[in-house]
Amino acid sequence: MMKTLAFYGLTLAFFFLSGAHSAKITFTNNCSKTIWPGTLTSDQKPQLSNTGFELLSKASLTLDVQAPWKGRFWARTQCSTNSTNFTCETADCGTGKVACNGAGAIPPASLVEINIADNRGMDYYDVSLVDGFNLPVSVATRGGTGECKNSSCSADVNAVCPGELQVIGSDGSVLACKSACTAFNQPQYCCTGAFSTPLTCPPTKYSAIFKQQCPQAYSYAYDDQTSTFTCSGAPDYFITFCP
Ligand SMILES: *[C@@H]1O[C@H](CO)[C@@H](O)[C@H](O)[C@H]1NC(C)=O
Ligand SMILES: *[C@@H]1O[C@H](CO)[C@@H](O)[C@H](O)[C@H]1NC(C)=O
Ligand SMILES: *[C@@H]1O[C@H](CO)[C@@H](O)[C@H](O)[C@H]1NC(C)=O
Ligand SMILES: *[C@@H]1O[C@H](CO)[C@@H](O)[C@H](O)[C@H]1NC(C)=O
Repeated sequence: MMKTLAFYGLTLAFFFLSGAHSAKITFTNNCSKTIWPGTLTSDQKPQLSNTGFELLSKASLTLDVQAPWKGRFWARTQCSTNSTNFTCETADCGTGKVACNGAGAIPPASLVEINIADNRGMDYYDVSLVDGFNLPVSVATRGGTGECKNSSCSADVNAVCPGELQVIGSDGSVLACKSACTAFNQPQYCCTGAFSTPLTCPPTKYSAIFKQQCPQAYSYAYDDQTSTFTCSGAPDYFITFCP
């Protein structure tokens, strides 16, 4: 009994002294149609309790994430279920289910990446179009200290997507816009091989299209530092699709 109490005491002390906290991440669907957000925890860590869910137009859902945490979020569009599988025309995670269970989005997909620090330290977050674009998205913080700016990609990149990057849906419309890396798989677009450093991988005419539409978002792997945002003091997060 004493042993157990001492154990709980130590655990509680550790919890408070280490400043462990959980961040609330609220997803809002401001699009006119239903979307299916997905979550992916990085670095082989356990996945969140919810790795994929349906979100009706104008609906919100909040998840609790234990710090420290690192991972990404996206939303699937044009999903349907046949007799066996759930599949989506954009950003599918390939599981055949609404839950992504540790699988990431198949590009193209607009991504929100969040790196939540332990001990109420400095978090990093961004909107990334490095894996292409499927729908507009923004990320905002609340309750933190420091810069804590909103990062928003509200433009419809699909509307200006060059033909060679377009993903055409079964209805004939442009559903998503591939990155040049995904479309052509060449070192100058993927920043690999001789192009594997920031100095040797400059923007291209393709990444410039994404940057022009969404200046706050990463447009390719070595985009400049204007695309990374910081916030300290354990903020909560608000991710809005179609802001
Ligand atoms: C359901 O869709 C999946 C993915 O598109 C496909 O592999 C599978 O064959 C389909 N099943 C049926 C019964 O149509
Ligand atoms: C879809 O279901 C079929 C069985 O009908 C299975 O063989 C296939 O792997 C599934 N596809 C996906 C993407 O889960
Ligand atoms: C940031 O985003 C939040 C939540 O979406 C919104 O309430 C707030 O007005 C935004 N702030 C700015 C400066 O755009
Ligand atoms: C929701 O979308 C509408 C346009 O459809 C836009 O005017 C509005 O600002 C968006 N609201 C938020 C909170 O992003």
